[in-house]
Amino acid sequence: MFRSLRARLIIVYSLIIFVTILTVDILILGNYFRSSLEERTITYFTHGNMAANIVSGNPNNMLYISETLEQYTLTAQARFLLINTQSVVTADSAHRFTGQKLTNPQVRDALAGRSSWDVYNGEGRYLQLAVPVTAGDRENMQVNGAVLISADIQDLFTTYSALRWKVVLISLLAGIAGAFFSFVAAYRLSGPLNKLIAFSKKLSQGYLGHEVQIQRNDEIGQLAETINTMSTGLYHIEANRRKFIGDVSHELKTPLASIKALVEALLMGQSPPGQYREFLGDVIIEVDRLSSLISRLLTLTRLEEESPSKEYACISDIVRDTVRVMTPFATSHNVYIKNNVLTNTRVLCDKNLVKEILVNLLDNSIKYRDKEKAVNEIEIKDSIMHGTYRLEISDNGIGIAGQDLPRLFEGFFRSEPSRSKEIEGYGMGLTIVKKITDLHGWDIWVESQPGVGTVISITIPLN
Ligand SMILES: Nc1ncnc2c1ncn2[C@@H]1O[C@H](COP(=O)(O)OP(=O)(O)OP(=O)(O)O)[C@@H](O)[C@H]1O
Ligand SMILES: [Mg+2]
Repeated sequence: MFRSLRARLIIVYSLIIFVTILTVDILILGNYFRSSLEERTITYFTHGNMAANIVSGNPNNMLYISETLEQYTLTAQARFLLINTQSVVTADSAHRFTGQKLTNPQVRDALAGRSSWDVYNGEGRYLQLAVPVTAGDRENMQVNGAVLISADIQDLFTTYSALRWKVVLISLLAGIAGAFFSFVAAYRLSGPLNKLIAFSKKLSQGYLGHEVQIQRNDEIGQLAETINTMSTGLYHIEANRRKFIGDVSHELKTPLASIKALVEALLMGQSPPGQYREFLGDVIIEVDRLSSLISRLLTLTRLEEESPSKEYACISDIVRDTVRVMTPFATSHNVYIKNNVLTNTRVLCDKNLVKEILVNLLDNSIKYRDKEKAVNEIEIKDSIMHGTYRLEISDNGIGIAGQDLPRLFEGFFRSEPSRSKEIEGYGMGLTIVKKITDLHGWDIWVESQPGVGTVISITIPLN
């Protein structure tokens, strides 16, 4: 039970409220008690001093003194005793100790010239306070006795302990009220969290593309929004994965079906040797197609699994090497490659992967050349602007229709004219290119116009 967020919040909040109220109340109560006691003490000291003055003003008039002490007893509600220098009680307003010797600390202090007080615990709590009876001036002060006051202050303690129990009770009630409000607050907090947990569990079981409904503007609302975005994202990834598997199966099936048909034709007929050669040649073409598709799929898988091994390399060197490798293929198709990469910019990259990008882009520009144009050319150039390196590969090929541009980086996507059998391809080249630029954190985009040509730009932040 205590493992749940709700239970913990309720316990912690209630305890905080209970302990805080209790501590504050006890401090206030303690202060109240001390100041009440102080007030009583001061009052009795005032009475004691007045009595001591009367005694020292009328040293031989014991009758007057006794009467006055009795009057004080009534107004101050305390017992007054007069003690001589031998600690013997000479007058007692309660008529009990007259003639007896009293040697408590207050009497000793008063006879030594100091006023003092203390609280004692007898039948109840009582305050004992004594002031000296003095004669003479400040310099030649003489102590002639003491006035001892004994007052019942049990009422102070009774009130204090009653109040203390009330405080404990109030704190307990506040704690319970705190528990109730924390329960409500915790319920409001943990309710949506439990909803999110249940939804996340369903997500992990493949319940993708749905949304959890939590309308809040706080962090929980943001978390719900993030989980919803994740659910949609995962749904798209899953849909793409299914489509990809379907496309791969389809692309693998086509050459396999052709190979089967060719082999069956060879098996069945008594074909002339020339036709055998032609059919076997077709089988080899289909096998080549299959193996190049598989090698493209492997490249893509490798990119998903392995991280690129990056080092600083000069882009112009990589371009020069790639152009050298691709030139014979380009020339054989009457395509001219112009290398106008002029800066010697070094960037952090995986050289082989950059080469893979260039080979794919050059291969496309050669494949999708415009045969109706007298000259087919490709230009590779670079520039640096605002701390960004930009590499551009442009051609004057057949171009790409505007509506196809957003889909070029999708796996197996091929633009309409190139789907025709005459241009070989699987729609994987640009997918691989995009994957590589993503792995490097670079941007890539395509601008194209049918009949005019295509420009592919890659931007690399330099820092
Ligand atoms: N330079 C270009 N000129 C015209 N069309 C292009 C160019 N580059 C790409 N395309 C279009 O984009 C599509 C996708 O290109 P991508 O390189 O991914 O696949 P592909 O060349 O068809 O096959 P693959 O590269 O797998 O052999 C191509 O089918 C083509 O229609
Ligand atoms: Mg290609």
